[in-house]
Amino acid sequence: MRVVSGIQTTGNLHLGNYLGAIRQWVAMQDALEGNGGQCLFFLADLHALTGNVSPQELANSTIEMAATLLAAGIDHRAILFNQSRVPAHAELCWILQGTARMGWLNRMTQWKDKAGKNREGASVGLFTYPVLQAADVLVYQATHVPVGEDQKQHLELARDIAAKFNTDFHVDLFPLPEPLVSKAAPRIMSLRDGSAKMSKSDPSDASRINLIDPDDMIAQKIRKSKTDPEPLPDNFDALAERPEAKNLVTIYAALAERTPQSVVEEFAGQGFGAFKPALADLAISVLAPMRDRLVRLLDDRGAVGAELAKGAERAQALAAPTLLAAQKAVGLQV
Ligand code: TYM
Repeated sequence: MRVVSGIQTTGNLHLGNYLGAIRQWVAMQDALEGNGGQCLFFLADLHALTGNVSPQELANSTIEMAATLLAAGIDHRAILFNQSRVPAHAELCWILQGTARMGWLNRMTQWKDKAGKNREGASVGLFTYPVLQAADVLVYQATHVPVGEDQKQHLELARDIAAKFNTDFHVDLFPLPEPLVSKAAPRIMSLRDGSAKMSKSDPSDASRINLIDPDDMIAQKIRKSKTDPEPLPDNFDALAERPEAKNLVTIYAALAERTPQSVVEEFAGQGFGAFKPALADLAISVLAPMRDRLVRLLDDRGAVGAELAKGAERAQALAAPTLLAAQKAVGLQV
């Protein structure tokens, strides 16, 4: 198994990233130990350039997110690096731009959402963003890609690009990467709006729990999160029309590693006045040790940068043969 995944380096990592992606990454790193598999996790700093990120913010965010991944338990068993330090990503991306079709990219919901009505004013990189994402995984011949549900469409595109490349150039170079979406937390929603996903780019900081938030802020955000006046039912399915309530129960269950059904059974008949403090205590008990490790790691940002540099060397060595094979397949003289 070759497991590859990434995070775009803008803003802060939040609970959705943790439950939807990072926790799975740590589990896969542990599971693959000693069986010949390899995990690669990276900070997608080239992807960040497609938005309006300042140079200072980009530089800080790359180190802070790398430190967060280390604090969450990613270690030398996995390869951790930033994308821009492994030029094979960008080189393969260019080759794959010849394979990807405009029509495929036009259908990407993230492109439509992010560009909004101003398509003419959006960066070219925002449009071709999923081709770089395909290169990110294909350059390692990834077999599995652990992501939140929102990235599934990009992974399907990566599979389409891989299949078309293999067919067009009569090679068997790229395995079709399989998305692995967390069952417990495929899509954590905003604390302020149960119809929007928890997101780094939401202007309201109250909409998300950042992994760097202190305990009192975690408790306050949960206390002020949007809910409804009804008590909790004894059946999780009964929350289908109550998105904010459903989200909080989902978060509780994911943090406690329990089923949502067992959580509603425990709190059946109780209102959010009782549920929210229990959720806050649970969230703090899971997140505080990680945050404390993160704060310590951020005392030595140079050491985090050095880890990334070491990871990039290992990643480049794995990427090189695939890039060379792709170059040869298309007829480049290298
Ligand atoms: P990004 O940085 O938005 O998110 C990183 C990971 O966190 C997941 N995630 C969530 N999961 C559950 N609930 C949420 N509210 C939530 N918000 C985010 C995302 O699904 C993702 O797994 N384009 C990617 C980064 C990327 C990438 C790649 C991923 C670049 N190249 C190659 C996989 C493979 C992105 O912007 O994720």
